Amino acid sequence: MHAHMAAAADWAWWIGLLLGAVPLLALAVWHCNDAGHCAAFALKRWRRRPRLPPGHMGLPFVGESLALLWYFKFARRPDGFVHAKRRRYAGNDDAGLYRTHLFGSPTVLVCSPAANKFVLQSSQDGTFGASWPAPELVGVSSVVNVEGSQHARLRGFILAAINHPSSLRTIAEVIQPRIMAALRSWADKGTVTAATEIKKVVFENICKTFVSMDPSPLTGTIDGWFAGLIAGFRAFPLDFPGTAFRHARACRKNLDTAFREELQRRRKKELDVHNDLMGGLMQMEDDQGKKLDDDEVVHNIVTLVFAGFESTSNNIMWAVYHLAKSPDALRKLREENMAVSRDRNGGFVTLDDIPSMKYTAKVVEETIRVANIASSVYRVALRDVEYKGYTIPKGWRVVVWLRSLHTDANYYDDPLSFNPDRWDKPPKPGTYQVFGGGPRICAGNMLARLQLTIMLHHLAVGYKWELLNPNAEVIYSPHAKPVDGALISFSKLNSD
Ligand code: HEM
Repeated sequence: MHAHMAAAADWAWWIGLLLGAVPLLALAVWHCNDAGHCAAFALKRWRRRPRLPPGHMGLPFVGESLALLWYFKFARRPDGFVHAKRRRYAGNDDAGLYRTHLFGSPTVLVCSPAANKFVLQSSQDGTFGASWPAPELVGVSSVVNVEGSQHARLRGFILAAINHPSSLRTIAEVIQPRIMAALRSWADKGTVTAATEIKKVVFENICKTFVSMDPSPLTGTIDGWFAGLIAGFRAFPLDFPGTAFRHARACRKNLDTAFREELQRRRKKELDVHNDLMGGLMQMEDDQGKKLDDDEVVHNIVTLVFAGFESTSNNIMWAVYHLAKSPDALRKLREENMAVSRDRNGGFVTLDDIPSMKYTAKVVEETIRVANIASSVYRVALRDVEYKGYTIPKGWRVVVWLRSLHTDANYYDDPLSFNPDRWDKPPKPGTYQVFGGGPRICAGNMLARLQLTIMLHHLAVGYKWELLNPNAEVIYSPHAKPVDGALISFSKLNSD
C-alpha cells in the first residue's frame, strides 16, 4: 500500500514538473534572446531612455529565421511574417518598424512607405551602410558593396553603360534577333516550360551584350556557375563541404577567373571588342581621368549579370503567365503592338517607339509590381538612428521589406490580381518601390523595363499561348514561380 502511494507521489511530482517547470523553461528560452538584447540596448543608453521598435527576437541563435522560412517556403505566404508582426505589434503609433532577429543578426524590419523611404534615402550619408548577407559572393569591389564616393564613381560608370539612352538603344538592337529566333523555336516545339526557355534567351543576350560571347560550351559552363552562385547567395552561410554556400564560393571564384582571362585577352589586344559592357567599363574615365582597375571591372560584370539575369527572366515569365490568364489585357497589348509593328513593317522595336506604347508600359509596371522579384533590401545602422520615437541601434541589420507595399490592399485594390488598368492612375506616393529608392535605386531599372517591353512586343504580335497547368501552385523561394515553371502550349498567331 505504502509502495503504491510512494509511486503515485513520484508520478505526481514528475507530472507537476512537466506541467509547471517545462513550460516555464520554454518561456524562459523563448524570451531570453529578446530580453538579453533589450537589456543590453537599455544599459548602453540608460541616460537617454530610448525605445526599441516593438517586436520579439525569437529563440537564441536562430531568432525568428525559422518562422520567416516557414512563411516563405512551406506556408507559401511570403508576407505572412510581416503581417503577423503588424497584427501583433502595430498600435496607434505604428511607425512601420519591428524588431526581430534574422540569420544571426539583431534586425529591424522596416515596412511602411515612409519608413522605407527614410532608410533608403538616408543610405550613404553615414546613417545606413550596405549590408549584403554574403558580400564576398557579389564581389568586394562591386557597386553593391562599396560606399560613399567610391560607390558614386562606380555607379556613374554603370549607369552610363546600361541605363543611358544611347546604351539602351544599342542593347535594344542587339537583343532582338535572338528573342525573335527563340520565339520561333518555341512555336516549333509547341510546348515549352516558359521559365527555362526565357532564362536561356535572357542569358544568351546577357553574354552577348555584356561580354560579346555567343553560345558555346564556355557560356554553358558560366551559366552553371551563375546558377550555383545564385543558389548559394540565398542559402545559410555555412562553409562546409557539400553546402550550397561552399559551392557558391567556388562558382564565384571560377566566374572571376573566366572574366579576368577575358579581360586580359582584351588588354593584350588578343581580342578587339569595345562595343559591349565590359569594353565600356574598361575604357570609361572619371572626372580625374582615372579608369576602373581589373578587379572593379570583373567584380561589377559579375554583379551586373547576377542582378540582371534572374530578375529579367523571372519578370518575363510572370508576364507570360499573367497574360495567359488575362485575355482582355493580352488583346489590348496586341492591338497596341500590332499598330507599332504595322507602322514599322513588322521590324524591330526601337527606343523611339517606346513612348507611344502606353498600354505596354502599364503591363510592364504591373508585371514588375506583382512579380516582386526584390522582396527586400539590406542595410546596417552605422550609428543609433532615431525614427518616430524609436531607435534603430548601431550595428543592427535593417531589412527594408519592399514587397509588402505592393501587396497591401490599402495601396492597391485587390493587390494580388494582375490588372494593368490600375496604372491609369499613378500609385499613391511612396507605395511603389520595386526598384528600391535613394542613392542605391536599381541601376538597371530602365534596362529591365526595356527588355520586358521588347519581349512583350514580339510575343504579342506573333504568338498565342496557354498555360497547361493554370492552377499550378506558386512557390516563393528562392523566387516566386509556379511549380511547373509555367508550362505553356505555344504557337504562331496565324497558325490556325
Ligand atoms: C525588374 C527587374 C529588377 C528589379 C525589380 C530590381 C530591383 C533592384 C532593387 C530593389 C535594388 C536596390 C538594392 C538596394 O537598395 O540595396 C537594385 C539595385 C541594383 N540593380 Fe536592380 N532590379 C532589376 C533589374 C536589374 C537589371 C536588369 C540590372 C542590370 C543588368 C540591375 C542592376 C542593379 C544594380 C547594379 C544595383 C545596385 C545599385 C547600387 O547599389 O547603386 N537590376 N535592383
